[in-house]
Amino acid sequence: MPYAKIIGSGGYLPPRVVSNDQLAADLATRQIETSDTWIVDRTGIRQRHIADEGMTTSHLATKAAQAALDDANVTADQIDLIIVATSTPDFVFPSTACLVQANLGAKGGAAFDVQAVCSGFVYALTIADAFIQAGRAKTALVIGAEVFSGILDWNDRATCVLFGDGAGAVVVQASAEPGIIGAQLNADGSQTKILCAAGNVSHGKVIGDPFLRMDGQAVFKLAVNCLAKSAHEVCEQAGISLADVDWLVPHQANIRIINFLSRKLQIPEQKVVITVDSHANTSAASVPLAFDVARRDGRIKAGDTVMMQGVGGGFTWGSVLVKM
Ligand code: ACO
Repeated sequence: MPYAKIIGSGGYLPPRVVSNDQLAADLATRQIETSDTWIVDRTGIRQRHIADEGMTTSHLATKAAQAALDDANVTADQIDLIIVATSTPDFVFPSTACLVQANLGAKGGAAFDVQAVCSGFVYALTIADAFIQAGRAKTALVIGAEVFSGILDWNDRATCVLFGDGAGAVVVQASAEPGIIGAQLNADGSQTKILCAAGNVSHGKVIGDPFLRMDGQAVFKLAVNCLAKSAHEVCEQAGISLADVDWLVPHQANIRIINFLSRKLQIPEQKVVITVDSHANTSAASVPLAFDVARRDGRIKAGDTVMMQGVGGGFTWGSVLVKM
């Protein structure tokens, strides 16, 4: 059975950058109080990229996908599988993956979306790995892309300061050399309420609450414990120890979750990729964006072992171990 190997990556962030001070000034016009100090102390976030009106998830996803294709030196017609992880698709249907396929000028391969919120990218990568190992695809594009700014309640300071928009992508190809060496996915559907956007459109009307809601402290506790357990399990599955992991690329929700996790796993902070300060939480896009940053600045190199971890609404979580 072939391995699925990551042969390229790309990222795209909307050009509009909103600093904490700018956001605080904007919220102040609506009598909502926040500050750079509060946001940095509690989350590590200093700024976020926000999509302008009309800039959709498929737009960001296509830009990231094209960057990954260029990086991998692969043309769109070689892609036989596109998976987009997103909770903010352009439409109910067709899928964002189909829109991306059309934008890239690739036709004929499979294309579909995966919805596992902030764990979406590790879910999608695990599915691509299974397709490739089973011989059902040779070269896949796996994308995490979100416009979370569209589902935020900008009157709720406890959530609206936490998120940003963006997209990250990888090209995964069948290879005789080790690539993805472990994958571990989980969900606990009894925890839907701690993080949700529990609305929809029916009969032409919005039903329920279209905005993201979160019990921050419950998410914090569950995230650290779930990710720590998953890290041990995926290493055991791959027959390696945590000390063999060269880079941890965790979901970028919050610097305090990341610091707790790395301490719990005894992974030194120099081995942890962090982008939450400049990207904020981009949900399914956060892991591939952080991975791409660390590849392009030369930290993640050929031969390295990388652990990617996602956690988010559902409640969902999981880990993928990759040999570069
Ligand atoms: N600015 C200023 N004050 C604020 C803000 C804000 N943006 N948001 C909340 N506060 C206030 C609250 O109103 C409250 O005030 P009060 O004491 O007068 O009632 C006070 O700060 C404390 O509120 P808490 O909600 O208890 O704040 P907490 O210390 O728990 O921090 C946070 C909130 C940062 C969300 C924290 O719970 C956390 O880190 N949770 C992890 C969850 C997370 O990061 N989620 C991201 C998305 S989920 C995911 O991606 C997996």
